[in-house]
Amino acid sequence: MYICICHKINDKTITKSIADGANNRVALMNQLGAGTACGKCVSILDEMIDAHTIASITSEDMPILFIPSSI
Ligand code: FES
Repeated sequence: MYICICHKINDKTITKSIADGANNRVALMNQLGAGTACGKCVSILDEMIDAHTIASITSEDMPILFIPSSI
């Protein structure tokens, strides 16, 4: 499915770029040109970056929460 109509860039291309390290909007713009014409795809680019970031967080990245037994 095309995400950036202006540059004919599909979701698979964007997902691969994010996975390869283009983990912010500017990086995607520089690498693919996505979002550099009309800008209507920018919010979707941000959502795709956020989804990838959230999906890549592991339990090891989570802070340890300590709840004392007697409060
Ligand atoms: Fe991406 Fe226009 S749809 S710049």
